[in-house]
Amino acid sequence: MGVLVGERRLITAALPYINNIPHLGHIVGSHLPADIFARYCRLKGYDVLFVGGSDENGTPSELAAEDLGVNLNEFLDKMYEEHKRIYDWFCISYDNFSRTSRKIHHETTQEFFKKIYENGFISVGKVKSFYCEKDKRFLPDRYVEGRCSKCGYEHANADQCEKCTALLDAEQLINPKCKICGSAPIIKESEHLFLRLDKLSNRLEKWLRENKHWRPQVINLALGWIKEGLKPRCITRDLKHGVKVPIEGFQDKVFYVWFDAPIGYISSTKEKKPNTWEKFWKDKNTKIYHFLGKDNIPFHTIFWPAMLMANGEFNLPYHVVGLQYLTYEGGKFSKSQKRGVFCEKLPKTGINPDIMRAYLTFLIPETADTEFKWTDFQAKINSDIIGNYANFINRTLSFIYNKLGGSIQRPPESEFTSSDKELMKSVRKK
Ligand code: 2FM
Ligand code: ZN
Repeated sequence: MGVLVGERRLITAALPYINNIPHLGHIVGSHLPADIFARYCRLKGYDVLFVGGSDENGTPSELAAEDLGVNLNEFLDKMYEEHKRIYDWFCISYDNFSRTSRKIHHETTQEFFKKIYENGFISVGKVKSFYCEKDKRFLPDRYVEGRCSKCGYEHANADQCEKCTALLDAEQLINPKCKICGSAPIIKESEHLFLRLDKLSNRLEKWLRENKHWRPQVINLALGWIKEGLKPRCITRDLKHGVKVPIEGFQDKVFYVWFDAPIGYISSTKEKKPNTWEKFWKDKNTKIYHFLGKDNIPFHTIFWPAMLMANGEFNLPYHVVGLQYLTYEGGKFSKSQKRGVFCEKLPKTGINPDIMRAYLTFLIPETADTEFKWTDFQAKINSDIIGNYANFINRTLSFIYNKLGGSIQRPPESEFTSSDKELMKSVRKK
C-alpha cells in the first residue's frame, strides 16, 4: 500500500539540557532513533517534520555559567553551538533544532498556559521548596539530592529519582543536601500554580488504554502512575531564569522547566513553519511521534498529554517511543568520573560518523538496557559492517560490472515477468 497523500508525521527527540555535553547514551536514547525514523518516513513519502532544540531554562544553566565565571547568555550561546556541532557530526537530520531561550518559545509557552488557565485546569496552592540559607536562594530540583523514599537510591534529585523514575516532592526526599555547598537546605513555603492532573486522570487512562501500538514497558509505567493516583502538580518555581508566568501575583516566578520544555516541540515547529505549523499539531491527518529516554517517560505519557488535554487545541501524541539506558563498559556514563564517550571529543578521533552510527544503531536500547564496549565495537564493525554489509555491496557492484557491463538498464514494463511484479510489490509494501 502506498502512502496517503497529505499523511503527515511530526517527529521529535527529547530536548537535551543545555548545560551537559551529550554522551553516547543521549544520542542512542533519542536523537539517533528519531533520526532513523525520520529518514525512513521521508523515504516512504510522508510529509515529515523532525524537530528538537535545547532545553535552556531553569537554574542548572545559571549555576553552570556561574561556576565557569561567564555571563549566562554567552554560556548558553556557546553550549548551543557545541550541541549543534555534535548532532551535525552524527548527521542527525533535524529540520529545526531550536532553543527554549528564544522569544518565540517564551511567547508560545505563555499563550499555551493562558488557555489551560482559562479552561479551569490551574489551581493555586502553597508549596514547600528547598531553600539554602548559606547560598541564600531557592534550590532547583536538580541541585538537591537525597535518598529516594520509594526505592532507597541515595542520589535521587528533588523532583525525580533517576533509578526507579518515581516523581518526588520536596518532603519525599530523605536527608536532602544542597549540591552547591553540601549543607542541608531548609523547606520554605510560598504560593504556586498547579496543573490539575487529578481532573484529567480518567481521560488520560482511557486514552492510554486506546494506544495499543505502544511498547508494553511504556504503557505499563504510565498506567502504574495512574493507578497510584494523580495529584495536582506544581508548574511554577521561585527562580529568575526561565519563562515568566503571565498572570497577576505570579510575575516574579517562572515556569517549571518540565512545563515549558515540551512546549518547545511546538515552538520549534512554529519557528520552522511560521505559516503552516498548525497542520503539524492540529490536523487529524498528522501523527506525532516522541522519542525519549526512560527517565522522560512519565513526562511524555502523563504530564505532557495532560497539558495538551487541558489546553484543548492540539493533537495528542500518536506514539511515545520510550527507550532504555545505554551503559558504558559495565557501568554508568559519568562526566565527573570520566567514564564514557562524551561527544565533543568524537570529531577529533578520526572515527567515521557512519561507523559510530552503525554501532550505536545495533545498541539502540529498545526493550532493555544495552552496553557500549570498545571490543564489541571493533568486532561488530569488522564482521557486520565490513564483513557482511560492505561485502554484499561489493559483490553486487562487481556482479553489475562483470556481468552487465557496469550498468543496469530498466526493461520496458511490457517485459516485466510476474515474479518481477511480485518483487516490486513486496518492496513497496508498507
Ligand atoms: O531529560 C532531559 O534531558 C530533558 N531536558 C528532556 C526534555 S524533553 C521535553 F522537551 F519535553
Ligand atoms: Zn527511587
